[in-house]
Amino acid sequence: MLSEKTIAIIKSTVPVLEVHGTAITTRFYQQMFAAHPELLNIFNHANQKQGRQQTALANAVYAAAVHIDRLEAILPVVKQIAHKHRSLGVKAEHYPIVGQHLLGAIKDVLGDAATDEILGAWGEAYGVIADAFIGVEAEMYAQAEQQAGGWVDFKPFKVVRKQAESSVMTSFYLEPADGSRPAAFAPGQYVSVKLTVPGETYTHIRQYSLSGEPGQSAYRITVKREDGGAGQPDGIVSNFLHERLNEGDTVELSAPAGNFTLAASEGDGPVVLISAGSGITPMIGMLHQLKRQGRPAVFIHSSPNSAAHAFREEVRQLAEDGSGIDVRYAYTRPSDEDRAAGDGAAHLGRIDEAWLRAALPQEAADCYICGPAEFIKHVYRGLKANGVPPERIHYEFFGPAASVDGD
Ligand code: HEM
Repeated sequence: MLSEKTIAIIKSTVPVLEVHGTAITTRFYQQMFAAHPELLNIFNHANQKQGRQQTALANAVYAAAVHIDRLEAILPVVKQIAHKHRSLGVKAEHYPIVGQHLLGAIKDVLGDAATDEILGAWGEAYGVIADAFIGVEAEMYAQAEQQAGGWVDFKPFKVVRKQAESSVMTSFYLEPADGSRPAAFAPGQYVSVKLTVPGETYTHIRQYSLSGEPGQSAYRITVKREDGGAGQPDGIVSNFLHERLNEGDTVELSAPAGNFTLAASEGDGPVVLISAGSGITPMIGMLHQLKRQGRPAVFIHSSPNSAAHAFREEVRQLAEDGSGIDVRYAYTRPSDEDRAAGDGAAHLGRIDEAWLRAALPQEAADCYICGPAEFIKHVYRGLKANGVPPERIHYEFFGPAASVDGD
């Protein structure tokens, strides 16, 4: 355990490091990738370019440091990150590399202010935080290996069906290439897909929610094609999957991961699923599960317009009369056709607090939100304003996690 003195040094230097947080982690990544370019096979280059990962890592290290004397307080966050690490194939032997370059970056950015005492304290603290991650991840690797049909790291899956779901979303049905049955999963979980894209030096890994039901011979993932626009490059992986990956081809998958599942619910009352865009993908599996359980649900989905709207027919079938499933849609950029159809097919506009109030069930419900960061923050506030307690609001960011309560 850390000494009182070390803890005191950590706590007193957190504010200083926070100020330089992004500079430190930017420096850290530059140095680490220069020394270990093979790690570029694991990290998402797009997130690096947009600086999003820098912020996520910085926030996590400082949050852990603030709670250094009671790490159990942040165990749920550690678990969520550990799911992602396990899904990516992060191993115990990677931690000293990250530690070495993080300390090196603190030293470079703070200069003389980084005394040996401060660096020593942070080195020790990093060791404690890393051990917490390594321990949780070791358990997750063991579970993935022991589960029926489970596996560690990546294994090949064959595309047995490719199906367009909307103008921007396509589903891929994936069966283990070795002919085995895929491991069970909880709806809401995701898999990592590893790809070698022609012309790219490093492999690319992306996470996609499992959009199908457990217990089938194939997993289903549904991928939104990311068109860069506004100075951003097109999504390398999503475009490759849409245009180049066909039935009969093979991709590498790691075992299902993640804790954004119905098991996070407080009780067995109604459930509200609220998604935007590709955030619909984990919700579809959950909706199948709720239907099987006969649990009442409200399914809310926001899409730019009807052309981009995926799974409308599948949801319609699940929500047939007497199913206890209430479906509500919102189109934020309706086409002329959508306008002509009027509010009957979908609310035309953004989901706001008053609209949510009308959609929420009378009984206390567990609410699940998935979509881009801005959407999650907006809906989270809307639910809180309608009296939903924070512990009953569960959410999953697509892309690196961010704060829901902040700006
Ligand atoms: C993702 C924290 C160690 C590789 C993340 C995320 C956080 C984080 C907060 C974002 C999670 C999310 O988006 O849901 C930490 C902390 C570490 C640590 C606090 C040390 C104690 C490592 C190590 C590696 C690693 C040792 C492997 C070299 C990754 C990768 C991602 C990730 C590849 C996905 C992000 C991307 O692809 O850009 N980590 N991490 N992390 N971490 Fe770590």
